[in-house]
Amino acid sequence: MAFSSFARALLLASALPLATLVGAQTVTQNGELIPADETTVAPAAQLLEDPASVLSEAERFQLTDAVLANLTELELSNVSLFNFASSDEVVAKRSIFNRCKTSPGDLLWPSKPIWTVFNILTGGALIETVPIGAVCYKNNKHYNAAKCANILAHWTESATHAGDPTSVMSPLYQGETCMPQAGNTSTCELGGFPSYSVKATTVSQIQLAVNFARNLNLRLVVHNTGHDFLGKSTGAGALSIWTHNLKSISFIKSYSSPSYKGPAFKLGAGIQVLDLYEAAKKYGVTAVGGECKGVGVTGGYIAGGGHSPISSKYGMGADQVLSIDVVTPDGRFVTADEKNNKDLFWAIRGGGGGTFGVVTSMTVKVHPKMNFSGVTFTILSGPGTNVPDNIFWAALEAYWRKFPGYAAKGTYGYSSIFPLGPAGGYMWSMLPWLVPQMSLVDFKAMVTPLFDEWTALGLQFEPVFFEHDNFYDTWTSHFPVEGVANSNLRTASRLFPIKNWADEVTLNKTISTIRSVIEDGSAFIQYNINGAAPAGTPDNAVNPAWRDATLYGIFGGGWAPDAPLEDIAFANKRITNDWGARFRAITPGSGGYLNEGDVMEPNFGQAFFGSNYDRLKRIKKATDPWNVFWAPTAVGSEDWYITGQEDWLTLQTGRLCPK
Ligand SMILES: Cc1cc2nc3c(=O)[nH]c(=O)nc-3n(C[C@H](O)[C@H](O)[C@H](O)COP(=O)(O)OP(=O)(O)OC[C@H]3O[C@@H](n4cnc5c(N)ncnc54)[C@H](O)[C@@H]3O)c2cc1C
Ligand SMILES: *[C@@H]1O[C@H](CO)[C@@H](O)[C@H](O)[C@H]1NC(C)=O
Ligand SMILES: *[C@@H]1O[C@H](CO)[C@@H](O)[C@H](O)[C@H]1NC(C)=O
Ligand SMILES: *[C@@H]1O[C@H](CO)[C@@H](O)[C@H](O)[C@H]1NC(C)=O
Ligand SMILES: *[C@@H]1O[C@H](CO)[C@@H](O)[C@H](O)[C@H]1NC(C)=O
Ligand SMILES: *[C@@H]1O[C@H](CO)[C@@H](O)[C@H](O)[C@H]1NC(C)=O
Repeated sequence: MAFSSFARALLLASALPLATLVGAQTVTQNGELIPADETTVAPAAQLLEDPASVLSEAERFQLTDAVLANLTELELSNVSLFNFASSDEVVAKRSIFNRCKTSPGDLLWPSKPIWTVFNILTGGALIETVPIGAVCYKNNKHYNAAKCANILAHWTESATHAGDPTSVMSPLYQGETCMPQAGNTSTCELGGFPSYSVKATTVSQIQLAVNFARNLNLRLVVHNTGHDFLGKSTGAGALSIWTHNLKSISFIKSYSSPSYKGPAFKLGAGIQVLDLYEAAKKYGVTAVGGECKGVGVTGGYIAGGGHSPISSKYGMGADQVLSIDVVTPDGRFVTADEKNNKDLFWAIRGGGGGTFGVVTSMTVKVHPKMNFSGVTFTILSGPGTNVPDNIFWAALEAYWRKFPGYAAKGTYGYSSIFPLGPAGGYMWSMLPWLVPQMSLVDFKAMVTPLFDEWTALGLQFEPVFFEHDNFYDTWTSHFPVEGVANSNLRTASRLFPIKNWADEVTLNKTISTIRSVIEDGSAFIQYNINGAAPAGTPDNAVNPAWRDATLYGIFGGGWAPDAPLEDIAFANKRITNDWGARFRAITPGSGGYLNEGDVMEPNFGQAFFGSNYDRLKRIKKATDPWNVFWAPTAVGSEDWYITGQEDWLTLQTGRLCPK
């Protein structure tokens, strides 16, 4: 963020309706009481020196004790609501912290004038939530036909949602309220959306929001791009911190830590996969990121573990992290690395987003530029094709049987299998199967035995091979652009360990289980991948189930928009208690991927965090005794519940209360 944009934010503040003073918010100047507004109160930030050049511009603007002392001196109304946590607070306020989070309409919900003070202190960064679909509702003051048409036309593109302060790409969890598609037939309500959002461009704004939420027992949500599949980046009545605009990225030629010496990127919290890959191309390196261009790299992706097209070779996204800058629940800004705040450094690398603080940037290692070889293909079976289902399954089975060998060579085999519907048949799309640092000749040699088996089966298929000398071109040429924001859909996931391939009885059972779930109507998005950490990676909180996995599968399904409640209940229960149960039974002790997991996963602590759970929970309690941060299935989330939910699906439409 440039200083000028901060000044611009200040000017804009005067145009915001929020800046209109309703109550008597005042400051004392020369012994006189005058109204507090953006002309009399500067944003609560101190621009810190950074002689070692380790901070981004956004991180140099911090909330400090000196800033708060000045505001106190000025006798700004309600300034104490922005104080940092003090050590005796947990005990003194235990009664507050054991109550439901304060919601709009509650006696203790902050009045408009208090929100105004908050807005002034952030330099005009506070946004009163307007759902993205509001522009499609004629009976609402935000109606705008042109904007509505634009949103409807681009609804399934991730950028549509990432560019909005509160929109999420799984609208199910905000209650599918104020959907733009329903503009003519319903009314727009806030539903499970937060009430306010802070558009963060400085660390100080994040600190103010964390302190404010903690001191007033408000529900706090961290929202980056809104990609989350479990409803973690939304919540009714919450204050949301929007990190999407923290877009700094810098290349460090030679970073040095106890375990690593080499090139690195320092990535602001708003950096998305596309930003990362573009920068990697520019600097001639290879970076570890996800497959979808819009995912937030240092937001939920790395915090959750992060699987990547090069994970079988270089480990998970979290294994790349060298240093983390984060605002902790007490409101302080700290750095966590191999030497400082070691528990936090361990926990944030895999222990989940929105749990231990607000990450403002991460420094990650990068790897040399390298070649990528691979293949894509699509196989259709059933009516109207020349592939009978039994040949389709035989081909898949032959492929599945070879997974450990492929993963050991560094494979990323990303494909999806969809049942085609009542008429029968399946579609299997490989999108793509690739190996980093392998020549096309070697790649073809690797896949030829499988393709020979397919030919012997009589399967007709048309593989499209490729080779590129860098990742960016591989990725832009052979990966799909994924649609988002589907309604009435839920997914879950399972990690299948290599040991399931060790004996033929277990392997046959594994294969027949996966097949049975697909035959029952589930989609199956599969990754032939092994997420082992390369030697020398400092230990972290990545789900141990990733380390010995050779297959990672996402499954799930949907229901008709107008389905009766019992059908919706059936579809949801089937995912968790039938399909999920079959996978749990064949992979005892393994788990699911928390970023793409089942929000109703029974025993989610074991499934998403494995043997790390107890330590993660201890760190959570020590870092956040106030429970400022909460997200569904996050560490410690089992001590809270959302009011008014079905027992087969937790949305973010109710109040957050302690159990
Ligand atoms: C189309 C699509 C493709 C995907 N592809 C991949 C893939 O290839 N590999 C993979 O591993 N995952 C993939 N994912 C899953 C993705 O990693 C998760 O959805 C991830 O949580 C997204 O993070 P985000 O910050 O972009 O999203 P958000 O929904 O904004 O946030 C997700 C979670 O992280 C928290 N969070 C966000 N920013 C911060 C922050 N600065 N500090 C603290 N907490 C924060 C939020 O509170 C929330 O709990 C994909 C998802 C989608 C929808
Ligand atoms: C506090 O106020 C004094 C006097 O106006 C000013 O010089 C100083 O820069 C302020 N400090 C901070 C941290 O804002
Ligand atoms: C805010 O300040 C006003 C005026 O001093 C006071 O009456 C009110 O209790 C304060 N509100 C909170 C939530 O502290
Ligand atoms: C509402 O109806 C009008 C026509 O009456 C149509 O142009 C518009 O697209 C509809 N809006 C939505 C959100 O479907
Ligand atoms: C890398 O790929 C390029 C094609 O993009 C090819 O010309 C070159 O020979 C490959 N190099 C190696 C080492 O395989
Ligand atoms: C496993 O399945 C294969 C192919 O379906 C079959 O040929 C083989 O006999 C089975 N092995 C065992 C031990 O059941």
